[in-house]
Amino acid sequence: MAKRILLTGGCGYIGSHICLELIEQGYQPVVLDNLSNSSTTPLQRIEQLTGQHIPFIEGDVRDEAILDHIFSTYELSATIHLAGLKSVAESVAAPIAYYQTNFGGTVALCQAMQRHRVKHFIYSSSATVYGLTAQSPIREDAPTAPASPYGQSKLMAEIALRDIAHADPQWKIAILRYFNPVGAHACGQIGEDPCGVPNNLMPYVSQVAAGKQPKIRIFGNDYPTPDGTGMRDYLHVCDLAHAHLCALRWLDGASGAKVFNLGTGRGYSVLEIIRAYEKACGHALPFQFLPRRDGDIASYHAEPALATRELRWSATRTIEDMCRDAWNWQSRNPNGYT
Ligand SMILES: NC(=O)c1ccc[n+]([C@@H]2O[C@H](COP(=O)([O-])OP(=O)(O)OC[C@H]3O[C@@H](n4cnc5c(N)ncnc54)[C@H](O)[C@@H]3O)[C@@H](O)[C@H]2O)c1
Repeated sequence: MAKRILLTGGCGYIGSHICLELIEQGYQPVVLDNLSNSSTTPLQRIEQLTGQHIPFIEGDVRDEAILDHIFSTYELSATIHLAGLKSVAESVAAPIAYYQTNFGGTVALCQAMQRHRVKHFIYSSSATVYGLTAQSPIREDAPTAPASPYGQSKLMAEIALRDIAHADPQWKIAILRYFNPVGAHACGQIGEDPCGVPNNLMPYVSQVAAGKQPKIRIFGNDYPTPDGTGMRDYLHVCDLAHAHLCALRWLDGASGAKVFNLGTGRGYSVLEIIRAYEKACGHALPFQFLPRRDGDIASYHAEPALATRELRWSATRTIEDMCRDAWNWQSRNPNGYT
């Protein structure tokens, strides 16, 4: 019988890609999402693509009764936990919501799993837990010093997970620190659908390419990088989704909690992204240089060797693939899921 996996936040950008990958690899995802930043449309599209029904529960990851209902209804073998809030700027303005959802939600979920004796857990963490001064390539043992309540809330959840695994050796936990996920599934049916003006570079570039934003704003062109613009470690969301399948298999032989970086191991500058996207969409993209933003750093990228060695995972898709698939999604869905 196919293994059932609880996927929290499965209607969101990354969660929907993991959901599709799970089904393609023979697992049965059960999705919990409160739809605060998504809709059920991605699940409907995945059902159409795969011909499989996806059990969906609308609810909050902090809701004990809903969690008990899920764990007693479905025979679950593991949880992949993505449900959470993810805006750095919003977290500075509303820290309580971030600590409640990201930290409190993770603890509530672990409590429910403990009650129901399901102890395999994959947590979506973020490279934002590293300090602004971390040396690239960043290894998992680099010092952590998040610069926002968002990053703090992710790190606090990581700490709780390590303590939980330490107290009870039956827990097996993979903590995955994502670098910069971008792009979309090549089918063009699921992708990133940000509310309002996008915060991140790639969806912003997509909207400029589609004529929905006037020009790309580049914050800083005097960084100590080859072309002066900031560099980040972008990885294709399908490579990221695949890493969760590798982590699920790794859990079977694992013990305790372990942190893994998920990135390609190299950075691309803002100008390199724009050039690659221009090739994908077939026309020039207007941009303007603006002053640096507070809190931005020149460049960072992951050291992903641990994931390669232990999870047997590495990113295979190129920056051209990321831009092609982002544009394919954008041009087929000019208004996102609506
Ligand atoms: N996108 C990135 O660049 C990035 C980078 C690093 C880490 N992450 C982490 O990956 C995870 C998923 O990110 P995403 O980009 O897919 O975001 P997303 O907002 O698209 O997905 C998150 C999903 O969680 C749901 N959700 C939020 N609060 C909830 C709650 N209390 N109960 C139940 N569901 C809830 C939302 O409705 C949404 O569907 C997040 O935990 C985020 O911190 C994302």
